Amino acid sequence: MTAQQRPAGPPGRLDGRVALVTGGGSGIGRAVVDRYVAEGARVGVLERDAGRAAALTRDHGDLVTVEVGDVRAADAHAASVARTLDAFGRLDAYVANAGVYDYAASFEDMDGFRLTGAFDELFRTNVLGPMLGAHAALPALRLTGGTLIFTVSSSGLYAGGGGTLYVASKHAVIGLIRQLAHELAPEIRVNGVAPGATRTALAGLDALGSAGHRLDERLGRIARHIPLGFVSDADDHAGLYVLLADPRDSRFMTGTVLPSDGGLEVRGGRPRTEAAR
Ligand SMILES: NC(=O)c1ccc[n+]([C@@H]2O[C@H](COP(=O)([O-])OP(=O)(O)OC[C@H]3O[C@@H](n4cnc5c(N)ncnc54)[C@H](O)[C@@H]3O)[C@@H](O)[C@H]2O)c1
Repeated sequence: MTAQQRPAGPPGRLDGRVALVTGGGSGIGRAVVDRYVAEGARVGVLERDAGRAAALTRDHGDLVTVEVGDVRAADAHAASVARTLDAFGRLDAYVANAGVYDYAASFEDMDGFRLTGAFDELFRTNVLGPMLGAHAALPALRLTGGTLIFTVSSSGLYAGGGGTLYVASKHAVIGLIRQLAHELAPEIRVNGVAPGATRTALAGLDALGSAGHRLDERLGRIARHIPLGFVSDADDHAGLYVLLADPRDSRFMTGTVLPSDGGLEVRGGRPRTEAAR
């Protein structure tokens, strides 16, 4: 639902606020954009896929402004922040969300050449991208006392949900959240959301020949490993991004990561079916 469609009633939780979301054209990022707009925000997006960028403009009109570019490039972040400020005049929440996956590529089977190529592609997207974005957004966030929000993953907390590259990259994002929360307090709050398995088009890597993979086609029987018993949809996580963007609900939170993973913390040591016997 867009803000234009929002029925008359109490004001949206983000009325008058402006956010910028990377990778806002698909999956979790798109769900956050849709929810932010429904809550009254104006939203800038940095997205590499021109078709997804066009869909955002078609669906949200001038409530959203989209820069087509790559999060691995500093100038793309500068352009998306400038575009958002030109369109909406301020920035309250920056959501570093764009990412790619390694499809659990075997560490041992990669030679040094493939490992280096895959590292460059994945870490530049999943770690350098959020760093460059946060850096570009900071001057505007300082003017509003705004907030930084990072999409982590259950792979930032646990092993086994990806390969070495992806799991290490998401652990690095948690390090980034903690250090930035420390450095930027008390003016800027810095937090993360750690989704578990989510039905999205999450792509792999050119360097490993998996760029065309889509996660939603491969989640298979993973639900039986999740205590709540289902694989999530992207909009199952969107409310947490609203909470972290709204200082009325989260003004005492910084350096935290909110899991949204069906209960991976309480999986226990045996498969649930076995434990229940
Ligand atoms: N799907 C899951 O199960 C899951 C679980 C935990 C965390 N995550 C994380 O959620 C985030 C979003 O992924 P998703 O699952 O929604 O996937 P998705 O592919 O549906 O969405 C990611 C978006 O980011 C864009 N993007 C990718 N690389 C980019 C780049 N270099 N520059 C600009 N845009 C780029 C893509 O075009 C896409 O629109 C990622 O950080 C991912 O690691 C996903």
